[in-house]
Amino acid sequence: MNKKIIIAIDGFSSTGKSTIAKQLAKKLNYIYVDTGAMYRAVTLFAMQKNYINHQFFNKEALINDLSSVELSFKFNAELGFAEMYLNGINVEKEIRSLAVSKLVSKIAEVSEVRKKLVASQQEMGRDKGIVMDGRDIGTVVFPEAELKLFMTASADKRATRRYKELLDRGDDVSFNDILFNVQERDRIDSTRKDSPLIKADDAIEIDNSDMGLNEQFERILSLVDKKINE
Ligand code: DC
Repeated sequence: MNKKIIIAIDGFSSTGKSTIAKQLAKKLNYIYVDTGAMYRAVTLFAMQKNYINHQFFNKEALINDLSSVELSFKFNAELGFAEMYLNGINVEKEIRSLAVSKLVSKIAEVSEVRKKLVASQQEMGRDKGIVMDGRDIGTVVFPEAELKLFMTASADKRATRRYKELLDRGDDVSFNDILFNVQERDRIDSTRKDSPLIKADDAIEIDNSDMGLNEQFERILSLVDKKINE
């Protein structure tokens, strides 16, 4: 008997979590939620309000102003996935910039931010039938998720993928800058006090350093099938 499940995908930055999550959601007709986009949107908000830059962070000001952060996802049929809106404005492009990537881990350390975002993520998954990717989905957001995946790949492979993505969209970036950012984010995300990036005991680890997209998708799909038909 087919049932709707929750699929939690966690792992290091640029391990292709969102690519696989989008593919799965499409195939299963599930909702896809990119929680990194939510942390990125709060970061953009903090930058716009001058609460944070590369040498300064007024955490209190951000916390006091969190009630004016309204996040929503709107499905873009042409792209086939939902785009991130911050206070009614599409911020999909801005939140992927290196400037946001450099500050997002600092914002993600703030417990008040996490509390707000986790509550809305749990609400989105109330009816199951959801694929959610992030850092704490299998450990904090949905510890009861039926399927938990933990994605890894070498830092070099990940930086190369990210570098190509940013070049393709016309950003002027250096490979070393990206590699440093990927490693630095992993370090901060894994060592923070609140909800650090760790593999849940019952998560299945997938190292895709040398795995093609199709091979990875087929492997994960068979894990999903097993869970759905259990
Ligand atoms: O998945 P991403 O690279 O777009 O995520 C950006 C940052 O947001 C990441 O470096 C850590 C933070 N994040 C988090 O702390 N918890 C999540 N569930 C998702 C992202």
